[in-house]
Amino acid sequence: MNLAVFVSGGGTNLQRIIDAVDSGELQNTEIKIVIADRDCFALERSLDKGITTFLLERGKNLSQVIDELLENQDIGLIVLAGFLSILNSEFCEKWSGKIINIHPSLLPKFGGMGMYGARVHEAVLEAGESVSGATVHFVTSGVDDGEIIVQRTFSVEKGDTVADLQQKVMKVEQKILIEAIDKIAKKIENSNT
Ligand code: GAR
Repeated sequence: MNLAVFVSGGGTNLQRIIDAVDSGELQNTEIKIVIADRDCFALERSLDKGITTFLLERGKNLSQVIDELLENQDIGLIVLAGFLSILNSEFCEKWSGKIINIHPSLLPKFGGMGMYGARVHEAVLEAGESVSGATVHFVTSGVDDGEIIVQRTFSVEKGDTVADLQQKVMKVEQKILIEAIDKIAKKIENSNT
């Protein structure tokens, strides 16, 4: 299965996919293309690995430009790995069932427009939650509200800071993202046999 991975940040999730493909943890899977909507460290990770990489401008036509780039690439799954632009509904519908997102909270809690990165953890701390986690879900035209594929929790201890939650969420994300991709890859394989 060919993957397209979209990024906007540090790229720890992208790196995890790269490593899982290299180690054979993810079998029959290849990262065909990486797309960033801003300059970010994830780009370096992708370029270092020799993956076809694009840095696009954010704005109105982003979904259309991406759609054109993906044409004839035989992409089986798009992974939004910390991608912060909102893709338009036409794009989400076209790729329905073939596009997933990783989000740093236990959706539906702390999701939706404007809830990303550190903001999520700030909100979790403000709400006094004792448990948080991460979610991998299918992407629909509603922000953060598609079907959940995998979700995992961690405990929020008294005195935890945003940085602590970022560390904890990263560990959880590294596991569930690969689980979700593997699950989808196996499903596709089985439907082809
Ligand atoms: C991850 O924590 C991911 O869940 C979050 O951005 C981070 C990206 O980290 N995504 C969102 O907040 C999307 N709403 P990375 O660039 O190191 O993979």
